[in-house]
Amino acid sequence: MNILLLGSGGRECAFASKMAESRHLSQLYIAPGNAGTSTYGKNINLKLTDFEGIAAFVLKNNVEMIVVGPEEPLVKGIHDYFLERSDLSHIPVIGPQKEGAQLEGSKDFSKQFMIKHGIPTAAFKSFSKASLEDGLKYLETQKLPIVLKADGLAAGKGVLICETLEDAKNELKAMLADAKFGEASSTVVIEEFLTGIELSVFVLTDGKSYKILPEAKDYKRIGEGDTGLNTGGMGSVSPVPFADAKFMRKVEERVIIPTIEGLKKDNIPYKGFIFIGLMAASSADGKEPFVIEYNVRMGDPETESVIPRIESDLIELFMGVADENLSEKELKISPKFAATVMIVSGGYPGEYLKGKTLSGIENLRNSVAFHAGTELENGVVKSNGGRVIAITSLQDNLFDAVQNATADAGRIYFDGRYYRPDIGGDLM
Ligand code: AMP
Ligand code: GLY
Repeated sequence: MNILLLGSGGRECAFASKMAESRHLSQLYIAPGNAGTSTYGKNINLKLTDFEGIAAFVLKNNVEMIVVGPEEPLVKGIHDYFLERSDLSHIPVIGPQKEGAQLEGSKDFSKQFMIKHGIPTAAFKSFSKASLEDGLKYLETQKLPIVLKADGLAAGKGVLICETLEDAKNELKAMLADAKFGEASSTVVIEEFLTGIELSVFVLTDGKSYKILPEAKDYKRIGEGDTGLNTGGMGSVSPVPFADAKFMRKVEERVIIPTIEGLKKDNIPYKGFIFIGLMAASSADGKEPFVIEYNVRMGDPETESVIPRIESDLIELFMGVADENLSEKELKISPKFAATVMIVSGGYPGEYLKGKTLSGIENLRNSVAFHAGTELENGVVKSNGGRVIAITSLQDNLFDAVQNATADAGRIYFDGRYYRPDIGGDLM
């Protein structure tokens, strides 16, 4: 079948590499894609929110399935758009409809959903511009640090962890009264600060049953030893040693099953990925999972460590999602360890350099490269994003995976390149 994959990051490059192995694939199109995805299919210059343009392309090229990488088209309703048009409604979209996408598109919606279905999460209260004064009073009753979250999508910047009451009050005012994050902060969730270790758990669902994909740990800070500014993610590893069978059983029983059942009870159709961002808090009974957030897509750079561990045909699994017979499909996961090191451009996550020529990709020894912010210019690979290229190694143990991915990251060169040398170090 012909498939259109939407997105242009390392996540989509990892998806593309895996989909290209499938016996079900005829032609893969990636919109807009990057220099890496073009080795697995044909890049198409389409905007992710141009639903009409996407539809016209799909009809002209007999596309039979759409796989959505990032959240924005989902939150804006690409799946609903396809269902509403009689000439498109037979084409499956992997990714939830607008209502389900609210799990990521609205923090208030996702918190209400968790409370309603008894899913463990941090205590919270939501405030709007009209209730700003109540919000300021509420802050005075809370422990520090305290977490403020813009309700809507804010390009990953909408979460603030405030150490002082003064800071929290100023930020709440900035968000509600001065629209710090625009429309996204017209509602703010004030949330208890959780302590523990973070973990990303991924589920694929057809709305009836689910498959738990390999879990991963993401390294969000720019600097060695988890210091400095937050980024989209500087690396990942999978599996995560502390997420043992006992912990994952708690996650399945307390979080995954109530989430899938909750969607059913609330009549929210859902076909696609659910990314559950967890805090594993210590207790006398080991670690306990609390949900920090849902995302309605895979994580990036988690996908670059998750996909190499999936041995089953990814398109076959997507067909199971589309046909609502996912429970009949097999998910085979490699017991090996994957580590991903993200190479970024100098200055990221602030202003960064672009248009730098990459070299050394052919020199990788025990890793694969998943392109993120790259483009081809007359056959030459150039950087065009902050996160430029992800290097993933799959090995028998975590140490070897990390060592090989890090050593191979060092074999890639471009002006101003930077990567963290300590990905996975905290887990060994
Ligand atoms: P998000 O933008 O929702 O991914 O949140 C960004 C990061 O903020 C998360 O990955 C956590 O590291 C942190 N965070 C969010 N909520 C909490 C919380 N309630 N307690 C502690 N850290 C949090
Ligand atoms: N790596 C975190 C995210 O994709 O949101």
